[in-house]
Amino acid sequence: MKDLETIREEIDHCDRQLVEIFERRLNAVLQVMEYKKEHKLPIFQPQREKEVIRKVTSYVKEKGFQSEVEGLYGEIMKISRSLQSRYLYPFNIVLIGFMGSGKSSVGRRLSSLLEMDLIDTDFVIEKRMEMTIREIFSTMGEKEFRRLEREIIIGLQDTKNSIISCGGGIVLDPENVESLKKGGRIIWLDASPEEIYNRLLGDKSRPLLSDLSLEDIRALWEKRLPLYETASHMKIRTDGKTVDEIVEEILKYQNL
Ligand code: S3P
Repeated sequence: MKDLETIREEIDHCDRQLVEIFERRLNAVLQVMEYKKEHKLPIFQPQREKEVIRKVTSYVKEKGFQSEVEGLYGEIMKISRSLQSRYLYPFNIVLIGFMGSGKSSVGRRLSSLLEMDLIDTDFVIEKRMEMTIREIFSTMGEKEFRRLEREIIIGLQDTKNSIISCGGGIVLDPENVESLKKGGRIIWLDASPEEIYNRLLGDKSRPLLSDLSLEDIRALWEKRLPLYETASHMKIRTDGKTVDEIVEEILKYQNL
């Protein structure tokens, strides 16, 4: 058996080569990104990732290492996506819109596809207070909830390259809008009152909507509309669309 130092030297030798090759690979990834940007091609292609992983696992000589190589490439793909998104989106992608417009699901999907952190303002508040939004509304009132929302937004001043999914009422305070605009591009996910009503039917978690009729929802929706309009850089209609379709639409705008 070789002695420990010799084996470690062998590992160090491999690491040097790996790092050198990995750097080459990362440079190639950035070149692909520039090419796709120039030619207006979609940059993030999950299908293509799957093909790469299938191909590299076919290169494995020792069958016992198949799943390790697959795991390694899963991570490499994530690193590539994160590198590309840091170049493409050095700012935050902020999702606003009425309750039930899909901000949380779209936020989750965008975050995993772009390997960007996800900050869901409602979730941050719930965690901080160790209470649900519904409990906060009923015990502390809406005014206190709005104060907490403002606090969260102020705390995000230095956040970059993240997905921020906002509570539907974030636009009620113009100072929130101003802060969010400073650090990011604001996308308004727009859904019709009918769609919102149907999506949230039976959902008791939203204090402002539970037990509201379609007409009540329409009235609140109409009141908020101009706020979403002026707050956003871009509007995406979400009626009848799947989360993947909405995400695809967002990523189509390469210069968000
Ligand atoms: C609110 C929307 C909710 C939550 C709270 C108030 C609103 O967030 O912040 O119930 O005023 O529109 P979602 O839009 O994520 O449901």
